[in-house]
Amino acid sequence: MHFLIPAAGSGSRMKAGKNKLLIDLEGESLIYWTLKSVFSASSTSWVGIIGQPKDKKLLLNSAKNFSHKVNWINGGDTRQESVFNGLNALPKDAEKVLIHDGARCLINPELIDQCAKKLDENDAVILATKVTDTIKIVDNQGFIKETPDRNNLWAAQTPQGFLVNRLKKAHKMAIDKNWKVTDDASLYEMLNWEVKIIEGNYSNIKITSPIDLKIAKLFVQNS
Ligand code: C5P
Repeated sequence: MHFLIPAAGSGSRMKAGKNKLLIDLEGESLIYWTLKSVFSASSTSWVGIIGQPKDKKLLLNSAKNFSHKVNWINGGDTRQESVFNGLNALPKDAEKVLIHDGARCLINPELIDQCAKKLDENDAVILATKVTDTIKIVDNQGFIKETPDRNNLWAAQTPQGFLVNRLKKAHKMAIDKNWKVTDDASLYEMLNWEVKIIEGNYSNIKITSPIDLKIAKLFVQNS
């Protein structure tokens, strides 16, 4: 399975003054832990890290102790652009791809393999969890407009898996139509293409703010 890891964010919400994927987590960078899980999955074959050129040296340095090769791809200004660059950098024979945010460093390798397996039966899959909070839709003035039925709400995670040519087509259409999305499955929804949910676990958090880092630390210490 071909694997793309978007890692080109600025991490402004972490307030670390650098790419959050380079922050230390128990003696290693955050991206190290993501790569460790990705390489531990038996389905992984080819891996590409998508990063900003200024972070290239440090991001690749985090991968140097693994026996697997890591391919470098320059990222864009948004996650959407970064993934598009990644898709264009895949080897010509790549049929399927799993995209996994570098910031989800606690991903379980077995869940990666499960996504890869389900991609044999479906055109597109994503890992997600049932929402436990009651979610409010709020207007720009801060007033609640609606409470959607929680039974139909899932929180999207990564990995998200796709057929390469189909996802490329979706990204090209998004560029034409100026669609802006924060994950790849959103493009499929806009095109009315099916995406199958795979139930993941709550530990697969996206490291976004300092509290997430504390949770990740506990998790790594106990794993
Ligand atoms: O900002 P956020 O954590 O939602 O970003 C999700 C993932 O997308 C992160 O792993 C981040 O490094 C990546 N990203 C990217 N290119 C950007 C912005 C974010 O690869 N321009």
